[in-house]
Amino acid sequence: MWLPCGCTSKYVASSFARRILASHLHVSGRSRCNVAAFMPEAAGFEGVSGRAALRELSVSNSESFWAAVARHRLSWSIPFHTVQDCDLSRGKIKWFEGGKLNVSVNCLDRHVHTCPERVALIWERDERGSEMKYTYRELLEMTCRVGNLLRRHGVKRGDCVTIYMPTCPLAVASMLACARIGAAHNVVFAGFSADALAERIRDAQSSTVITVNQGVRGGKVIELKKTVDTAVESCPTVKQVFVAMRTDNPVTMTARDIEDVVCEPAVMNSEDVLFLLYTSGSTGKPKGLVHTQAGYLLYAALTHRYVFSYHDGDVFGCVADIGWITGHSYVVYGPLANGATTVLFESTPIYPDPGRYWDMVERLKINQFYGAPTAIRLLLKYGDQWVNKYDRSTLKTLGSVGEPINTEAWEWYHRVVGDGRCPVVDTWWQTETGGICIAPRPSDPDAEIVPGMAMRPFFGIKPVLIDTERCFGFLQGELLTSNNTSGALCMAQPWPGMARTIHNNHQRFIETYFQPYPGYFFTGDGAYRSEEGYYQITGRLDDVINVSGHRIGTAEIEDVVVRAQLSCPAVAESAVIGYTHSIKGQGVYAFVVLKKGIDVKEADLSRQLNGMVSEKIAKYASPDFIQFAQRLPKTRSGKIMRRVLRKVVESDLEGLGDLSTLDDPAAVQEIIQGRRCHV
Ligand code: WT7
Repeated sequence: MWLPCGCTSKYVASSFARRILASHLHVSGRSRCNVAAFMPEAAGFEGVSGRAALRELSVSNSESFWAAVARHRLSWSIPFHTVQDCDLSRGKIKWFEGGKLNVSVNCLDRHVHTCPERVALIWERDERGSEMKYTYRELLEMTCRVGNLLRRHGVKRGDCVTIYMPTCPLAVASMLACARIGAAHNVVFAGFSADALAERIRDAQSSTVITVNQGVRGGKVIELKKTVDTAVESCPTVKQVFVAMRTDNPVTMTARDIEDVVCEPAVMNSEDVLFLLYTSGSTGKPKGLVHTQAGYLLYAALTHRYVFSYHDGDVFGCVADIGWITGHSYVVYGPLANGATTVLFESTPIYPDPGRYWDMVERLKINQFYGAPTAIRLLLKYGDQWVNKYDRSTLKTLGSVGEPINTEAWEWYHRVVGDGRCPVVDTWWQTETGGICIAPRPSDPDAEIVPGMAMRPFFGIKPVLIDTERCFGFLQGELLTSNNTSGALCMAQPWPGMARTIHNNHQRFIETYFQPYPGYFFTGDGAYRSEEGYYQITGRLDDVINVSGHRIGTAEIEDVVVRAQLSCPAVAESAVIGYTHSIKGQGVYAFVVLKKGIDVKEADLSRQLNGMVSEKIAKYASPDFIQFAQRLPKTRSGKIMRRVLRKVVESDLEGLGDLSTLDDPAAVQEIIQGRRCHV
């Protein structure tokens, strides 16, 4: 029933496909370049003269482009009849309807069919030098075992399974097992607290949780099972928790491992849910973004191959945790769909020493390394010797993700880590976009790369900049068509990898992404378009901050801070902002106004607030600085002027800007005097 990749000839011969191919033969009569050699998926577009023309075509006729690519890249059990049915103004996004497939078959079975002994996963365990390899055959077996186990315990198609695990093979197998039996997964980053985990389990209405007894990271034991125990106390939906042992022996994954290793894959519709992934927005409540089967997988696979110039046989090392979208798309789904060898990095960049990444590159012969600027900035401070100690000659491409990469870090990454010979690709994207949207490549292999710029939109992506002027509280949108300009970064047309909705809250999905600029998808980021037409991300336009590449809503932290109490509720109000931090990118700075007549020691309360934020959200969200204030600068209508707070914290008193709407100017002076850090 399952066709291995390349066996979709029945569909290629369909009249629909013929129509697409025919309609593009006239695209260009000029010098033909062999597009097929660069992108076999686009072999149908024979008349296209080069990659730039192919990119243009992928935008101007995205439907034909994606149809051709989807047919070529994915194995379908039933071909799709409609390429897309999207209406951005209503937040309606559907791709490849009528098509049926199974994501785990696409990631595993078809490779087992052709190359069962190829290594799928290299688990770079926390203990240096103890890596373990798993072939595609082994990963399929493990996936089937977990799939059967879940099925046997009543997990059905459409159910949602929460996975609270470190980055390890069993976590990957659990994700793929869900995909295999048609359940959605909800991976929660194992650094999240019991409260944060519980909130996500409840919102997702999960009845099953998969975890491990303990995690190990940076030499420390992390009590994941205990956290789950605490979390599920407030989750009435949870009926069962599977606990794997994080030991050296992969077969002891559960007590019930005498299983049939064949697990019949469910036949899924293109638009069935593949997973939920919670991320922060500008309100206190995290949102469960929903990604579906075919479009997501296709987009992850295509970007993985072309942004990083991945070639068969390469070892791909993305050091992200599977709890984030980067882990989903570039540790698991993209590489596995492409039959790649993908690295699961369980440790930290400085354990046991700051040479860890490069030692791993040498040992595992990594060809593409994909990491976060925050780690690069940290390692830069330890000096070149930790890099130079190791042989990095296998490296071909270096990737950066999650936050802006400053020029110093970019240069060091390029010059020291990559010996000046590997392109550095700064990749911009989000949980919402499913995969990379703006990155320097693909393009001609020797196309210019500007340090610190994401630069060029990927195939099928049409970014636009829109004026951010506010008018009567609504965002007004004038399309900015010239270059050398900045504005709100929006996408003018849909692509297969984009999120489909917010779990249980389609209205919030529409309001957040499609109403600010009607007809466009609003990313929440600002961007600059250079004279040459290249994009540079300038940062969030909302109250979302980015701490060490971790996205967090300031409102989420404020919600915790105002709940603080010593003997009685103590906090009247709070404002949390992000400030520029030399390693973390942004740090958390909290302003706290105490209730009148409250007599508490500020140091005690600070300690408690830090503890509470770690406990209710995660350690990385805990404020670096807490400033107690009598009052906060507000507009006459009572809105806290965060812009002013940010300027004060960053010691940019000249840049305070227009203070005419300020209710009481003395509030600003008080805040300046009480500053806790002078950066
Ligand atoms: C936000 C998305 C991208 C996957 C991991 C984070 C920021 C992301 C870049 C970049 C500047 C970036 C944006 C974006 N961001 N990549 N290359 N340059 N900023 O996914 O947690 O959903 O966060 O991260 O602000 O909106 P996420």
